[in-house]
Amino acid sequence: MKTIILFALSMPLLCFVGYAQETETNEDERKVSAYILPEVLLTNSGEIVNTKKAWENVRRPEIVSLFEQHIYGKTPAAKLPVRVVVNTVDQQALNGRAVRKQITLYFSDKDKPKMDILLYLPVGERKPVPVFLALNFEGNHSIHADPGITLSERWMRYDQVRGITGHRATEASRGARAERWPVEEMLARGYGLATVYQGDIELDRRDRSPDDIHALFPKPGPDDWGSIAAWAWGLSRAMDYLVTDKQVDAGKVAVMGHSRLGKAALWAAALDQRFAMTISNNSGEGGASLYRRNFGERVADLTRAVPYWFCKNFIKYSGRENDLPVDAHALIALLAPRPVYVASAVEDTWADPKGEFLAAFHAGPVYKLYNLAGLESDQFPEAGQDAGKGVVGYHLRKGDHELTRVDWWYFLNFADRHFKTRKTKAFSK
Ligand code: GCU
Repeated sequence: MKTIILFALSMPLLCFVGYAQETETNEDERKVSAYILPEVLLTNSGEIVNTKKAWENVRRPEIVSLFEQHIYGKTPAAKLPVRVVVNTVDQQALNGRAVRKQITLYFSDKDKPKMDILLYLPVGERKPVPVFLALNFEGNHSIHADPGITLSERWMRYDQVRGITGHRATEASRGARAERWPVEEMLARGYGLATVYQGDIELDRRDRSPDDIHALFPKPGPDDWGSIAAWAWGLSRAMDYLVTDKQVDAGKVAVMGHSRLGKAALWAAALDQRFAMTISNNSGEGGASLYRRNFGERVADLTRAVPYWFCKNFIKYSGRENDLPVDAHALIALLAPRPVYVASAVEDTWADPKGEFLAAFHAGPVYKLYNLAGLESDQFPEAGQDAGKGVVGYHLRKGDHELTRVDWWYFLNFADRHFKTRKTKAFSK
């Protein structure tokens, strides 16, 4: 009798302890549990694909739909009628170094939702140029002190920092994030930069705004798209504009993103194969890092703090990462055969640098189907090494969770290599 009572009393405790361990955040490499990654080339019906054709026609669509169903949600297929307004073109911006264009895309017959694209192009180029396309966290005006950039009027997630007051940008916000965007160096090397404030597409907050893009699409279901998918959708709409701009080489647009916006960049390029290159910077859990490695951020952390980034089904995997039918290596594999670059930082343990590296490594079998080299080794590199000489690139930078000039130095070199861009001068690490 005594035994039975004790057993009955201890049950909930055991369950609770079990659950806590499964969702607990670990930053000790020795405590990483063993895991088995789902085979990227094994179809849902149990066959191995070993040709490009079978990958493209069978396995690739299966993986896309698994990510839609369980992680990011399904992006609506309906096309919105987009009104494009080129607001300003300055041929002599940044002291004569840049052409600056500001373009607004309106997604209905009202004046919202709308998305402002800031595009810098190098002056004096006769041919169309390759362009980096990236979302930003605090408005287009935050990326450069250029007084010609329109100040964003939208709500900003962060407050009382970098000139933001009452969640709105002020003149003091101009260039507040400039250290993340070495625009002059990109221009000097023959690249353009297109950027959009993430909040123009969808505000980064739990309660959705009527000005968010979500408002234009029908009612949600359990696999309704979350904010990451919405931001990815916005990147594709920016691409719709870029392909029409004669000064842009539409075959050489690299989609780039830092952190949560790195997650969005990866998903954007998975869905939209017009992006010729993808760059993920410190994108971590829900982006480039392996869910199954219990190191750094876990699914439970995401579903607790930012459930709205994902579809509702994702919550089922809190503490149960091993049950996910896909892992981050499969997301990176969706980018094949296009060049992809994954960047981590030593102190960014929350994003699990090693998990980001291993996901990039395990995308290799799909690149191999195209006779392309992925990462050569699964040995986690030292900080400061350029680990990827192939179509999959990787670096581990010293320092913390950030997007820095050093990261751009690697990205530009990678882009030079794969876009065969002629200008390689200037800009040392
Ligand atoms: C949080 C979040 C991460 C995310 C990061 C960022 O740390 O937990 O998943 O990548 O914010 O976007 O800066």
